[in-house]
Amino acid sequence: MSAEPIVRKVACPGSFDPVTNGHLDIIGRAAGLYDEVVVAVLVNRNKSSLFTVEERISMLTEVTAGYGNVRVDSFYGLLVDYCRTHEIPVIIKGLRAVSDFDYELQMAQMNRGLAGVDTVFMPTNPEYSFLASSLVKEIATYGGDVSSLLPVSVHKRLLSRLDEVRR
Ligand code: PNS
Repeated sequence: MSAEPIVRKVACPGSFDPVTNGHLDIIGRAAGLYDEVVVAVLVNRNKSSLFTVEERISMLTEVTAGYGNVRVDSFYGLLVDYCRTHEIPVIIKGLRAVSDFDYELQMAQMNRGLAGVDTVFMPTNPEYSFLASSLVKEIATYGGDVSSLLPVSVHKRLLSRLDEVRR
């Protein structure tokens, strides 16, 4: 009788409103380290977002299509509950700067304490150390060029959404 192979799964959670090149860098590197990467989009009813969860999933699915081991899903509630249900033992988070570390460490320790789910921190590519979806949206709203910070298809969708919002 042969033993079941161990599938190393990792969750890459976030709001992804919208996905940026910084997110994609972390997802791609995670795909090289784990057998399966589950990009988990938070359904947050308290936070207003520019894109619906379905739109965010659609953009993520499109830009990660080149990886055979990345899938996109959404979750509501506690991330550790989602991880437990889907038998995902590890969360991966990108760290842009030291300023990210305090809060990320707090969440990592809480998640480990709540459910034994570990967190692995991955330093972001320095090229993206300043990059955040919120900044991208703000800059694009006022006409700034964010084309180098987003996948081409996401950039197009962002500009057309901002156009719709302005009307
Ligand atoms: O992209 P974001 O908004 O910085 O992602 C934050 C996210 C979704 C990773 C974090 O808010 C989260 O895990 N939310 C789920 C609720 C939860 O589990 N809270 C307890 C954290 S200790």
